Amino acid sequence: MNAAVEAVGALQAAAEGDNSGRRAIGEVVLEVKNISLRFGGVKALTDISFDVREHEVRAIIGPNGAGKSSMLNCINGVYTPQEGSITFRGQTFGHMNRRQVAEMGVARTFQNLALFKGMSVLDNIMTGRNLRMKTNLFQQALRNPWGWGAAEREEVQHREFVERIIDFLEIQPYRKTPVGRLPYGLQKRVDLGRALALEPQVLLLDEPMAGMNVEEKQDMSRFILDVNAEYGTTIVLIEHDMGVVMDISDRVVVLDYGKKIGDGTPDEVRRNPEVISAYLGTSH
Ligand SMILES: Nc1ncnc2c1ncn2[C@@H]1O[C@H](COP(=O)(O)OP(=O)(O)O)[C@@H](O)[C@H]1O
Ligand SMILES: [Mg+2]
Repeated sequence: MNAAVEAVGALQAAAEGDNSGRRAIGEVVLEVKNISLRFGGVKALTDISFDVREHEVRAIIGPNGAGKSSMLNCINGVYTPQEGSITFRGQTFGHMNRRQVAEMGVARTFQNLALFKGMSVLDNIMTGRNLRMKTNLFQQALRNPWGWGAAEREEVQHREFVERIIDFLEIQPYRKTPVGRLPYGLQKRVDLGRALALEPQVLLLDEPMAGMNVEEKQDMSRFILDVNAEYGTTIVLIEHDMGVVMDISDRVVVLDYGKKIGDGTPDEVRRNPEVISAYLGTSH
C-alpha cells in the first residue's frame, strides 16, 4: 500500500470515530406525529411531534406528570393515543400491540422495575429472550420425542447470548443471585440486560438512573453509551438528572403539562427560556 492511500485511510478512520467510539447519526427511524392522549379529563399528551434518528441518544425531559412515561407507552403499544401516528422504519401505525412492537425491534425498561424478584439474574435476562426462541422445549418433545437435540442446542445458544450480556454489563458475580437481593442500582442494570436480550434496534429507557447515587449513575451512563456504540442501538431516554442528559444525549425533547416546549441539542435546550422557567428552574 502506498503512503498516500495509508494517509487517506488514517484520516478516514479519524473522521469516522470520535473519542467515545460513537457511530454516525443516520436517518430518521422513529417519527411521532401529532400525538394526543387523554385519560378522561386529563390531557396527558397534546399534539406531540418529534423524531428519532438512527444511532442517536434522544432524551425526553420534563417535570413529574409532564407525560414522559405516557409518551413511551404510546410508542411501545401500551397506550392507544386518541390522535396522531407513529412511524417506525417507514411503517405507520396508530396503535400496535406490545408483541408487534417488540418484534419490530423496540425494547423498553420501566420506571418501576418489572423484574421477577425471586428469579436469578440469568433467568430474568432469559425472559427477555423469549421472543427470539423458535422452539419451545415442551412442544418439541410432544411432536418428536427424539427431537430434544435441536431444542436443547437452541437453548444453549440463547444461554450463551445471555452470558455475553451479563459479561457486557459486568454482573457476572450475581448471575445466580435472586434479583430481589441485589441493590437497586444493580437491579436497574439487570432490567437493562433483559431489554438487551431482545436485541433491540431502538431501546426506550424510562428513568434508568432514578434512585441511584453518583457512582451508579456514572456506571449506567457508560453502559448506555457502550450499548449505543457497540451494538449501534438507538436510545430514547427519560432522565431527570440534567447533568446526565447534557452529557450523554444528542438531542432533547422537553415536555411540560403534556405539551412540547423545547426540542434541540442539549445546548439549545439549556438556553431556551421556556425550558428554563418550566424545568431547569425547578428542583427536578
Ligand atoms: N393509566 C393512566 N390513567 C390515568 N391517568 C394517567 C395514566 N397514566 C398517566 N396518567 C396521567 O397522565 C399524566 C402524565 O403522566 P406520566 O406520563 O406518568 O408523566 P411523567 O412520566 O412525565 O412523570 C399525569 O397527569 C398522570 O396522572
Ligand atoms: Mg414517568
